[in-house]
Amino acid sequence: MPAGASPLPTSIAVVGAGFLGAPVAAALAGAGDSPVLATTRSGTWPNGHVPAGIELRALDVVARAPLEIAAALAGARALVVCYAPGKQQDRRDLYIEGTRRLLAAAATLPLARLVYTSSTSALPDRDAWLDDDCAEWPDEPRGRVQREAEELVRDACARHDVPWTILRLGGLYGPGRELFRLYRGAADDAVLPGDGMQPTNLIHRDDAVQAVLAALSLPPDQRSVVNVVDDDHTPRREIFARLAALAGRPPPRWERPPGPAAIGKQVGNARLKTLLRVSLLHPSHTPESP
Ligand SMILES: NC(=O)c1ccc[n+]([C@@H]2O[C@H](COP(=O)([O-])OP(=O)(O)OC[C@H]3O[C@@H](n4cnc5c(N)ncnc54)[C@H](OP(=O)(O)O)[C@@H]3O)[C@@H](O)[C@H]2O)c1
Repeated sequence: MPAGASPLPTSIAVVGAGFLGAPVAAALAGAGDSPVLATTRSGTWPNGHVPAGIELRALDVVARAPLEIAAALAGARALVVCYAPGKQQDRRDLYIEGTRRLLAAAATLPLARLVYTSSTSALPDRDAWLDDDCAEWPDEPRGRVQREAEELVRDACARHDVPWTILRLGGLYGPGRELFRLYRGAADDAVLPGDGMQPTNLIHRDDAVQAVLAALSLPPDQRSVVNVVDDDHTPRREIFARLAALAGRPPPRWERPPGPAAIGKQVGNARLKTLLRVSLLHPSHTPESP
């Protein structure tokens, strides 16, 4: 827990217990005395077996009215929002309309904090270091939806005086979503688009879990956006070459020869360290060469 932090709130609900939300709920269940409420759209746990200390409920924030959402989250005193649309749902339906409904429900709950997981795609695609307070919006629609959802969260929490934290996560990797899966060229002779020289902005799932837990422990006056990325921004071209070598495959082929490095955004993680006091378990994602 960060210095000066409050204890974890009791009765925490994790909305969207998927790749990130499920281990968050499991960590919370292991850390506290009160049961943790976790929801998925389907009402099933990712790997079938619900860990001890977790009460699992079905909740679809797009299909349910705010009153029904509030009923599903009854008893919660803090919310962690970790839903993602997958391939089946419209991003705007979930991130904007679903978030509106969730926030209307949240306004009726006695919340000590709301932690909302967003994405570094909410930041503009500029050739620069971007910090936690970057005010500029991205141009492309995916990121604009994320940024709009962030604004909904900030506005609603300000209106109802609910302490909030927005965690802007980099690309998540970890058990079951290994880095190698980011290496999309399945065939050895596949040609990958571009030159692969843009900086990466990634975060291991364990460190994202740490960030969520630390955010839940912040004192009530702390309300801010925190970029959640690791320290390593090695371009994909280099990472994929090392992964291929480790797997005994030829280095991937790219559409273009390498251009200058650091063309693209590099997301800074200052507040992750200064405010959340997270000590990264996986500061680098670059595999050792064989
Ligand atoms: N994955 C990444 O690389 C990445 C990068 C940046 C940010 N993020 C952010 O990190 C968070 C977690 O991502 P993730 O990869 O853990 O997602 P995930 O594995 O796809 O899990 C999504 C969870 O949300 C639930 N869900 C889906 N639609 C819902 C709805 N309409 N109402 C309520 N719950 C719904 C799912 O339930 P079912 O399984 O039953 O459908 C599942 O429990 C998201 O906020 C995402 O935007 C992820």
